[in-house]
Amino acid sequence: MTDQPFMHDSKQRPIGVFDSGVGGISVLQHIHALLPNEQLLYVADSKYAPYGNKTPAEIQARCIEIADFLVNHHVKAIVVGCNTATAAAIDMMRERYALPIIGMEPAVKSAATASRNGIVGVLATTGTLKSAQFAGLLESYGRNVKIITQACVGLVECVERGELQADTTMQLIQQYCQPLLDEGADTIVLGCTHYPFVRALIEQVVGEEVSLIDTGAAVARQLQKRLAMLNLLVNDNKVGCVSFWTNSKADNARQVIESLWRRPAVINLL
Ligand code: DGL
Repeated sequence: MTDQPFMHDSKQRPIGVFDSGVGGISVLQHIHALLPNEQLLYVADSKYAPYGNKTPAEIQARCIEIADFLVNHHVKAIVVGCNTATAAAIDMMRERYALPIIGMEPAVKSAATASRNGIVGVLATTGTLKSAQFAGLLESYGRNVKIITQACVGLVECVERGELQADTTMQLIQQYCQPLLDEGADTIVLGCTHYPFVRALIEQVVGEEVSLIDTGAAVARQLQKRLAMLNLLVNDNKVGCVSFWTNSKADNARQVIESLWRRPAVINLL
């Protein structure tokens, strides 16, 4: 276990958030909105995106490298802003690191409760849908509803390229949402943190009668709860610095991050 000395100023330390790429910025936005005084350090592992078609062992290796980096930057907690990485690596990470680790999973439970007609669609990566963790979610919350799953191959890459409005992105969304609409889903889970960035296109395809559910806000609340319990919430009232680290080789990496974050960003290269 990689241990971390608890220093006197534990509360002042940053919170680390990471994803296979820029998708977790959708979670970071919720965290910054709920905990504006916290310092946040975001790692976009874009060089290795997507995680969705990687083996659990490959994803675990990426998570160890990133978590080691975050621990070396003295984070007080880690948020895995990625459903695919959570499914593949959260247990291993909790065994390995002695600090709070918050993960996320597709909102099957909330969707099953929210659905009026009992038909729920789940958009996620192949890795998430194939995972034991997702099978467990279906087992626990999917019994009284019909759940239709759809892997969205290629959609993460569209968001990574910053193509939020492109025709090719729209075509993929139509292709992936149609089977859910054909089955009559009235509630659709956005089970990957990249998808909230194309929410407007998804809404255009599924129409306003269909509810879309994502877990970014719930993850931020869970983080707040854990930090409060451990007495680790920052006791400062100035706005915390948010910095980004990326290993993206794309020429437009800065532009993509800033357009998703919706303001100028401090960006470092990994
Ligand atoms: N954003 C990710 C998720 O929530 C991972 C996408 C990927 O890299 O395949 O699952």
